Amino acid sequence: MREHVLLIGGGGREHAIARSLAASDAELYACASNRNPGIARLASRFETLETTDPEAVVEYAETVQATIAVVGPEAPLEAGVSDALEHAGVYAFGPNQAEARIETDKAFQRRFMQAHDITGCPDFKTFEDEEAACAYIDEYDGDLVIKPAGLTGGKGVKVIGDQVTPEEGKAYIRESDYDTLVLEERLIGEEFTVQAFVANGEVRTAPAVQDHKRAYEGDEGPNTGGMGSYSDATRALPFMTEAEYDAAVSIIEETVDALEGYKGILYGQFMLTAEGPKVIEYNARFGDPEAMNTLPVLETPFLDILTAARDRKPLPELSFADRATVCKYAVPAGYPTDPEAGALVRVDEESVGEAAEGSSGDGLLFYASVDDREDGIYTTTSRSFAVVGLADTIADAEVIAENALELAGEEGLHMRHDIGKADLVQRRIDHMDELR
Ligand code: AMP
Ligand code: GLY
Repeated sequence: MREHVLLIGGGGREHAIARSLAASDAELYACASNRNPGIARLASRFETLETTDPEAVVEYAETVQATIAVVGPEAPLEAGVSDALEHAGVYAFGPNQAEARIETDKAFQRRFMQAHDITGCPDFKTFEDEEAACAYIDEYDGDLVIKPAGLTGGKGVKVIGDQVTPEEGKAYIRESDYDTLVLEERLIGEEFTVQAFVANGEVRTAPAVQDHKRAYEGDEGPNTGGMGSYSDATRALPFMTEAEYDAAVSIIEETVDALEGYKGILYGQFMLTAEGPKVIEYNARFGDPEAMNTLPVLETPFLDILTAARDRKPLPELSFADRATVCKYAVPAGYPTDPEAGALVRVDEESVGEAAEGSSGDGLLFYASVDDREDGIYTTTSRSFAVVGLADTIADAEVIAENALELAGEEGLHMRHDIGKADLVQRRIDHMDELR
């Protein structure tokens, strides 16, 4: 019987998952709170529902006779959607609620690393009391990072010495009323992501990716969910050695050993410091945008990984194309502080594919949060769509991504043209050279 795969979530990351699964001989079904036109075109059926409502997801999974479910975003994991699906007899590729705490509870995550003596954990302390946290800022020798323990969409963290002064940090703690805070040592270096496919105690890692969280060019402005990202044709990035990439992979392996029954994606966000990689955070899912770098170069069918995971067979060794990727998000003008919705999206998968014709690479488009109306696709107040260039070098992939963005025009949109350009990549290399 053909597998019936249910994909949960409707962002750019999930469009990339859908594209990977559509290449296999499976029946694809999708559900999300927003109708993603890219996923809807690839799936046999698309249902709009609240994905943080486990009962609603299970009901739909039963309707479509799902044999496997893939949970894209963190919110359904936190809501216990994987647990509910498993309870209903549907294998869910995504950790259960308790395991997802590795992402959803940063205090748990740090204590877990400490308890299992996992390499790469920064010096940290957790606080329930605001004034005790503020006193710790006063007495600590060095800059601290203030992290609310719960999910904040990447926007709750404040870095003293970078985004805020110690006084501003304390004011933030007093104003914001979080239950639990993690205060930890500020790490200096370059950030990167390694995503791992995990099941039955086995780990298969993907090439490293670097995301760009700041809204504006030159890494200025407020933090966002991620404005774009790149990966190289090798597993490492230009500013790191193969040995440093391997060190990150072994931290993930140590973590998976300690987690035991974990299944799904384990996303390690690392800071490459002068002393090697340290863990900034773990996520219990693919990154968005990073999935859009990784899945298009994954040559092993994603479906084969899913069925092996479910059937408790050894996970296939993964093969990745030796291609660099550059992903750039188009977001509504004014994002993230004052986003203006309602701009027409002037590109689609086909026109972006054509933009790469004549080059040796490929161009892909992934929809994120858009409004699919009768007369066209319009932006909302969240990230709109991403273009991805794939080529032999980062520089060539970047040109393809830029050509695709040019087709889309700038009206009502904002994008970071600097992502993947030689200047910015060189700055990362120089930064690491200075630190080493
Ligand atoms: P998180 O939500 O944990 O990913 O944090 C958001 C951003 O804050 C990260 O991408 C980093 O840029 C920054 N950050 C988090 N923890 C640290 C740390 N210990 N040192 C320096 N920067 C950090
Ligand atoms: N790109 C950051 C994230 O997915 O959390």
